[in-house]
Amino acid sequence: MSTPIYDFSDAVVLVTGAGRGIGFAIARDFARLGATVYVNDIVSERASRAAAELLKQGYDAFAAPGDVADPEQVDWIFRHIDEHHGRIDVLVNNAGVEPVSSIFEHSLEDWQRTLDANLTGAFLCTQKAALRMRELGKGAIINIASIAGKSQPLYLRSAYAASKAGLVGFTKEAAREFAPYGIRVNAIAPGVIVTPMTEHLRNNPEQMARWRAEIPLGRLGQPEEVAALCLWLASDAASYVTGVAWHVDGGKNMA
Ligand SMILES: NC(=O)c1ccc[n+]([C@@H]2O[C@H](COP(=O)([O-])OP(=O)(O)OC[C@H]3O[C@@H](n4cnc5c(N)ncnc54)[C@H](O)[C@@H]3O)[C@@H](O)[C@H]2O)c1
Repeated sequence: MSTPIYDFSDAVVLVTGAGRGIGFAIARDFARLGATVYVNDIVSERASRAAAELLKQGYDAFAAPGDVADPEQVDWIFRHIDEHHGRIDVLVNNAGVEPVSSIFEHSLEDWQRTLDANLTGAFLCTQKAALRMRELGKGAIINIASIAGKSQPLYLRSAYAASKAGLVGFTKEAAREFAPYGIRVNAIAPGVIVTPMTEHLRNNPEQMARWRAEIPLGRLGQPEEVAALCLWLASDAASYVTGVAWHVDGGKNMA
């Protein structure tokens, strides 16, 4: 798949949860277009491996291990960015978890863990990034939500859906508040994308057949197809676009 040509050669980009899956595709595509990319992941070996892979391909990348829901660890990441670059141009809040449980049996611990990773983490990183972007007078923040939080209940994913709906609301509030500083904030609501997170679904032929039948384009999405929108939203080509949650779901939700 070809990548649209934007120039991010002066940009410093932080992608959370980028050790694999959608986050890694986003980090790699920003790096390909010249950005210095900070690769965050709560699993530090994943962050290191992903950053090493980008460096091996000749791109500029740093591993930024840490839990985005832990204020001290987020602080550490931004101190590192300050010391080495003194700026941040793009933040992609991508880190997320998706526990599967009936509401009847949902543990409070899993509920809290999901809200922490998917929503509080985005808040903490956004707060730090926007303070720095305000100094620059520009910046782009992209929140990876889900169709589950915008238009499509998935089933047995109440904490996930609540966290992603929260992220869509947070996106609009942040877009409204940060607009005077030249900071644009958008969300992406992917459908089912081929990553480790959806392996259990892809291993279930019955569920897969049901999903495929409901997707007008007739297939699941690839991480690069989410990354492509992310690049556009971060670029000057989207300079008049803020506060919107965009579906990337093969036409499943057309509203
Ligand atoms: N795959 C899909 O079909 C799909 C659909 C809609 C939305 N999404 C969203 O896209 C994002 C990426 O999903 P994916 O499919 O690539 O998942 P994935 O599980 O392959 O990757 C997510 C990464 O986030 C990391 N992570 C989790 N909690 C973290 C935390 N607290 N701090 C830092 N890193 C953390 C994980 O270690 C993992 O490497 C998630 O927010 C997910 O909810 C995915």
